[in-house]
Amino acid sequence: MIMAAKKPKIRLVADAEAMSRAAADILVEHISKSLQTRDVYSIVLSGGSTPRRLYALLAGDPGLRGRIPWDRIHFFWGDERRVPPDHPESNYHMAFEAMLSRVPVPPANIHRMRAENPDADKAAGEYAQEIQQFFDIDAGEMPCFNCVLLGMGSDGHTASLFPGSPALGEQNRLVMANWVDKYRSFRITLTAPVFNNADLILLLVSGSQKADTLKAVLADVRAPDRYPVQRIQPKHGRMLWFLDRPAAKRLDIDRRGLSCD
Ligand code: 6PG
Repeated sequence: MIMAAKKPKIRLVADAEAMSRAAADILVEHISKSLQTRDVYSIVLSGGSTPRRLYALLAGDPGLRGRIPWDRIHFFWGDERRVPPDHPESNYHMAFEAMLSRVPVPPANIHRMRAENPDADKAAGEYAQEIQQFFDIDAGEMPCFNCVLLGMGSDGHTASLFPGSPALGEQNRLVMANWVDKYRSFRITLTAPVFNNADLILLLVSGSQKADTLKAVLADVRAPDRYPVQRIQPKHGRMLWFLDRPAAKRLDIDRRGLSCD
């Protein structure tokens, strides 16, 4: 079932650097607040290139790094490419290089997708089991991650939910091996209901090459099979779009929010 779209909450910033800083501040604040009432914090990391600077700031900026109790954070991934973990295209590799290898996080807190497994369905099933064990939930229940980070591709995909791909309408499975025609390859991805069940969703979009798609996604008609990112609609939590000016150049955003150009 596709829920009616809520009015998007947008943080408009000058550029990719400002976007990474703004997202880092919100995330660190959310971690501190959440850990007042629970022992551990679970976060789903996104891949691609956009979050690299955010990860580097969290690990390297003294004002941020020291505010994060790294041993209480558990890291998961929203999607993974079918490559080994030391491959330059691996989402795990990017996050490890930029952040996880630089901070005191116990290896047991790092829950990577084993997407290099030649059996893609098996890799997806094993990751679903890992999530179920972590959250102590049964098959059929949805996990509630504290935070999900997402990006958007120029074709409107998010995580590895690509336009027209089989995983788009999935309502029951947590993780799928999703066939992506344009890459002639499977990707392993969490499904939309998992993302939508999170406490906080931060969606980062940067760069003018995404401006047309962003306008279609945020200001035009709903077409969630064409623009899978439109399927991201929090069920109970909060969702914030972080946009830099080049990405948002076709949108008209003022203090009251978004209107169309
Ligand atoms: C991936 C992602 C993907 C990404 C977008 C944006 O594995 O590619 O998780 O959904 O977030 O494609 O990627 P960029 O940040 O590189 O533009």
